[in-house]
Amino acid sequence: MKSFLSLLAFAPAAFAAFGVETSGSSMVVDSGDALVFTVSTKSGDITSIKYSGTELQDKSKFTQLSSGLGSADVTSTVDSGVAVVTISTNIITHYYIVREGENTIYIGTNASEEPEVGELRFIARLNKDAVPNGIPESEVDGGSVVEGSDVFEIDGETRSKFYSSVRHIEDNVHGVTGDGVGVYMVIPATSYEKSSGGPFHRDINNQGTAQQELYWYMNSNHEQTEAYRTGFFGPYAMAVTSGDAPSADLDMSFIEDLGLDGYVASSDRGSVSGTYSGTLDGLDVTIGFSNSDAQYWASASGGKFTRDAMLPGTYNVTLFQGELEAGTGSVTISAGGSASVDLESSLEIPETVWSIGTVDGTPAGFLNADKIEKMHPSDSRMGAWGPVTFTIGTDDESAFPMAQFQAVNDPTTISWSAGSGDIGERTLRIRTTSSFASGRPKITVNKWSSDTPAAPAKIDSRGVTRGTWRGNNQVYDYVIPDGTLVAGDNTIEISVVSGSSGETFLSPNVVYDSLELI
Ligand SMILES: *[C@@H]1O[C@H](CO)[C@@H](O)[C@H](O)[C@H]1NC(C)=O
Ligand SMILES: *[C@@H]1O[C@H](CO)[C@@H](O)[C@H](O)[C@H]1NC(C)=O
Repeated sequence: MKSFLSLLAFAPAAFAAFGVETSGSSMVVDSGDALVFTVSTKSGDITSIKYSGTELQDKSKFTQLSSGLGSADVTSTVDSGVAVVTISTNIITHYYIVREGENTIYIGTNASEEPEVGELRFIARLNKDAVPNGIPESEVDGGSVVEGSDVFEIDGETRSKFYSSVRHIEDNVHGVTGDGVGVYMVIPATSYEKSSGGPFHRDINNQGTAQQELYWYMNSNHEQTEAYRTGFFGPYAMAVTSGDAPSADLDMSFIEDLGLDGYVASSDRGSVSGTYSGTLDGLDVTIGFSNSDAQYWASASGGKFTRDAMLPGTYNVTLFQGELEAGTGSVTISAGGSASVDLESSLEIPETVWSIGTVDGTPAGFLNADKIEKMHPSDSRMGAWGPVTFTIGTDDESAFPMAQFQAVNDPTTISWSAGSGDIGERTLRIRTTSSFASGRPKITVNKWSSDTPAAPAKIDSRGVTRGTWRGNNQVYDYVIPDGTLVAGDNTIEISVVSGSSGETFLSPNVVYDSLELI
């Protein structure tokens, strides 16, 4: 009796034994430190996440893959200080891995097919009392619907889970916090290899409802420009801390020795280095690599780049000036090998009579471009959309609308007083970064009208109203015949045309990158 009481006095430490215990349908994984979580052996859902005794898991909705696997085979192993929980269905093998003494759940998801729901995501539905602080723009609890079932209004501000999204090239750590606790997803850059959409694709990270939802979207149709990939997604992690964000350089190399389905070890990977030239000064340069099996990226500077840990195969290589494709190449990666590729921008840098915006595949600098990633275009905090008349030589680019919606701010009119040396045959080059409902620009210059350009490839998704401009970049060249432009006042009207229609901000639309008169 005496020894039992003295054991109790040390209860938290004494009972924090690393390992996995299963009773009934509950598989309890104890990190041996502050984290203890429970996996349902029926569904693979995480039903409890305790940190120093505080319950972080919402009890009405659990933590799971996609919207839950329904039923799954759940097994565990414990070996040399590493516990592995394996959750499998006929198409998915999902792993939760814990190292003794660490409050981090390392995760890997091998998918041999896209789940029927059409998106592959990890979602932690957390106890909002314990972790009340998410991304403020994604707190939607109690809001009224503005669009779809995913954009809301609260106290006159639009909110959406889409406003938690971050470009994947920058999205390596994101999380939610509470008093003395933080829960963070950690995604190393290489772990996006089976996702889709390239370095500038963005996806949902958080939503505050009755739960605090924390996500890592592996793929979805949220303005997706590429086909989905299959295979081993990750490794990624959900780290629980006393509040601070963990480093993005979380060492996941120990996973290499665990023999996980679909996992490709570093010895079976290769690297590439190379050079680039010809991009505009002052813009970020990114190198993208893609084939049907994998995707990668590297930030480049000073004319050079390197990228390691790639799966063997032949890749299309893209040189991005900002977010705009400026050059292409091809490279073949072999296991253990180091390849090289030299890239050159093939973008013409024309001499312009005037230009509006920067040729960078983004609407940066234009009206409302600084707000669109965090609010709906109908938000009262947005600058008035117009229709805008933009005067060359007078107006700043911040007066030019970042997007044009057929039913809201159409047409955009450019007013230009031309000198006699500036007229004659000219080309107006309009670059756009996305299009919704087959919208594309058509122009009227004084009394002359252009043809209607062919519809761009359609993306099966809402676009800019979901807080992103990242669709397919398009370039439209309109050759304005000699005799159209006059010395003196000219009017150029840009309209969005489409065979489709829609209301307000869901009418056919385009997002502008830049305009150049050449
Ligand atoms: C893991 O994914 C690969 C690639 O899609 C697939 O061939 C393999 O069957 C998967 N393994 C399991 C056990 O599902
Ligand atoms: C490279 O891109 C071209 C054009 O989109 C495509 O046809 C080809 O399959 C791609 N190659 C690889 C290796 O993905």
